[in-house]
Amino acid sequence: MKAFNDLADFTNDEIQALLELANRLDAHPEPHALQGKVLSLLFLSPSLRTLASFQAAMVRLGGGSFVISPDMSIHGLETRPGIVMDGAAAEHIREAVPVIASYGDAIGIRAFAERKSLEADMAETEFRALTDLIDTPYINMESAMGHPCQNLADWKTLDDLGVPANGGKFVLSWAYHPRALPLAVPSSTLRMAAQRGMDVTVLRPEGFELPDAIMQQARDAAEASGGSVRETEDRREAMQDAQVIYAKSWSSTQCYGDRLGDEKLRNELIDWCVDEPWFENAQDDCRFMHCLPVRRGVVVSEPVLDGPRSVVIHEARNRMLAQMAVLHQMLGGQS
Ligand code: CP
Repeated sequence: MKAFNDLADFTNDEIQALLELANRLDAHPEPHALQGKVLSLLFLSPSLRTLASFQAAMVRLGGGSFVISPDMSIHGLETRPGIVMDGAAAEHIREAVPVIASYGDAIGIRAFAERKSLEADMAETEFRALTDLIDTPYINMESAMGHPCQNLADWKTLDDLGVPANGGKFVLSWAYHPRALPLAVPSSTLRMAAQRGMDVTVLRPEGFELPDAIMQQARDAAEASGGSVRETEDRREAMQDAQVIYAKSWSSTQCYGDRLGDEKLRNELIDWCVDEPWFENAQDDCRFMHCLPVRRGVVVSEPVLDGPRSVVIHEARNRMLAQMAVLHQMLGGQS
């Protein structure tokens, strides 16, 4: 495996093989599988789960890792192309990224969306500029529009819970958050659920529609897998017989890059906090999913988050197991 960048690059059989490997590594640890292998981890954006789970995954497989991020005592990093570096930054990513990559056998990179231009973020301009600098196998640890490690872990969580791939009813819901957040998780979660063959409903208020191209990719993936995709702003209609609600806040696509415009829209939507009455017409055991971090009492009520519907800790642990499978395949793990 040269890159783990998007679940759509893999067939459903290949994804199932990765998930079987994740289950096998959980049940039968292989503490020497990646002995002598090194994973470089470049975090240009903050993290808790991704940062910790990749390091834990490498240790559990007998390898090692190191982390570089701008808030460490490294030289100030310049990211802009074609710039005269006469300001504070002492090092350009054009040197820094290949140097970091050269110390490892694979590299994980996290760089959130700039959220200035939807077109540039949709084209993954910044992430591509980074991966174009290296020949090393790489893992997308969250880019402008993708979070494949989260998607693989969430697919595993759905399997673990026995949520059917075909015919399973999955609601991806926008939720209130005081800040405009990236589109990576909602976009890639939608594509994951569609590729898994589920009947997916995107529940979002006006102004927060996902980009047409993302909706179309999801419809195509659903069609290939026997699922379906629709969208609505009607909560009751969306939640009818739902088996899973996956909550996430995201930026307004109508006001993308316009902080004040986005704020004006979202400030009217404070009641989009997932709470028990949302589940009135869902299936009795409808689950609550979220990638974390999550704001209590803002995105989701405390009783839902702490109650039996919530599987957020299960999802987070599956990050480590899913990544162990990816690393095992990418770095040629020996049992
Ligand atoms: N879900 C997720 O990627 O968490 P972190 O941002 O903490 O890594």
